[in-house]
Amino acid sequence: MDVTPDSPPSRRAWLKGLALTTWAGLVAALGLGLGAALRLAGAGSGPRARPRLDLGLAAELKPGQVVSREDVAILRDAQGLYALSLVCPHLGCRPVWRAEEGRFLCPCHGSAFAPDGRRLMGPAPRGLAGLWLELDSQGHAWVDPNRGVEASRRLALG
Ligand code: FES
Repeated sequence: MDVTPDSPPSRRAWLKGLALTTWAGLVAALGLGLGAALRLAGAGSGPRARPRLDLGLAAELKPGQVVSREDVAILRDAQGLYALSLVCPHLGCRPVWRAEEGRFLCPCHGSAFAPDGRRLMGPAPRGLAGLWLELDSQGHAWVDPNRGVEASRRLALG
């Protein structure tokens, strides 16, 4: 019986293919594992701090007026200036100021909030959160969206 000349090379080729496939599988598994590990490491670090927001010249804000930017608002009453978070405590939608009604209204499920942030109605479990507010040397009102304060905190204007 004759030995076919290409039998050994074809077996060698099959083994080579198997080895390559195994290596490719190992490399893919390592890549997936590394990606998952990086995602887990990132998840533990929490949300990144947001930059402070400039809401403009505080002296130009009239009592009863609302100035908002992104998801924060500043207002002024008889005691002074204050900032509120415009993130609804129900499910996170953005309440909008309704000047004609004198209240914030959440467009998602109808929660309403007084100008001082108190909850008036709707499914929101509490009022709007107060945020840290300070003035710079030029009189600009800066709000820190990462720093909550009592909604009753006021910054007296001179
Ligand atoms: S998210 Fe505002 S009432 Fe539901």
